[in-house]
Amino acid sequence: MFHTQLPKNNLETREQIFLGQKFIAPTNDLSRSLVESAKSLITEKLGVPDIRKARLTLTDQDFFEKMGELRRIFYLGTEYHEKLRGLIAALGFDPKQCAFDPIRIRVILPGGHHNPKAAPVYYAHRDTWYAHPQSLIVGWLPLHNLSEEETFEFYPDQFDDEVPNNSEIFNYADWIKDGPALKIGWQKSDSGLTGGYPKSLLRTRPAKAEGFSIKTGETLLFSGSQFHKTLEQDLGTIRYSLDFRLVHLDDITNARGAPNVDNRSQGNILADYIQPPLT
Ligand SMILES: [Fe+2]
Repeated sequence: MFHTQLPKNNLETREQIFLGQKFIAPTNDLSRSLVESAKSLITEKLGVPDIRKARLTLTDQDFFEKMGELRRIFYLGTEYHEKLRGLIAALGFDPKQCAFDPIRIRVILPGGHHNPKAAPVYYAHRDTWYAHPQSLIVGWLPLHNLSEEETFEFYPDQFDDEVPNNSEIFNYADWIKDGPALKIGWQKSDSGLTGGYPKSLLRTRPAKAEGFSIKTGETLLFSGSQFHKTLEQDLGTIRYSLDFRLVHLDDITNARGAPNVDNRSQGNILADYIQPPLT
């Protein structure tokens, strides 16, 4: 189930998220501005009239290289860090108390699931299997209105129930030892074949799945411990979305977070998050 209004009290929002609740927060000025800025930057960089159909005019290599440049800007650009701080505040979080892993842009190509290099994109997983803390909250914004068949799905029965998985293969120090390219994915086009991406070892899709539709400007918030999977799509258009990760440092201090039922990843990416300014 997805709630459409955030509680007035941010601690309550976080506690609900740690219990497995999911929120689709309404559009606000900051989310609208972030999405519009992202769309115009992508349009400018790709140089195509309709970014959802960019693959019709750009070669694979050209598209991949241009998306790599964009990944770098969204993740490292201080302008986007500021925009994200604004959005975090608009969602009721105190940016002075929150560390964040910056914005990542994702593209889901029509038929992308047929490409072996993209296989990890479709692994069912928990974000915490990538060495994020159990207090992790994930934010996700689409750049277009999306129907249920182009988003992803959650498996609520597995939120606090063990899923067989190989998260022990993920070691954050190894992941970044050759620089941030694999972490952010802006250089290596074959990282899907060589990177150690944790995945579920379940052989069948869980019986209970929850999908969702979402409008551009809305922000989905959920626990990094949610078990979920990106849907395969063959609709002829590219899906673009932005996501980010945040941790309220009080939650680390007070050991608040989702239960850890099966995360064996090693290391802690939190130290490399953008930290709140010292006050
Ligand atoms: Fe995820």
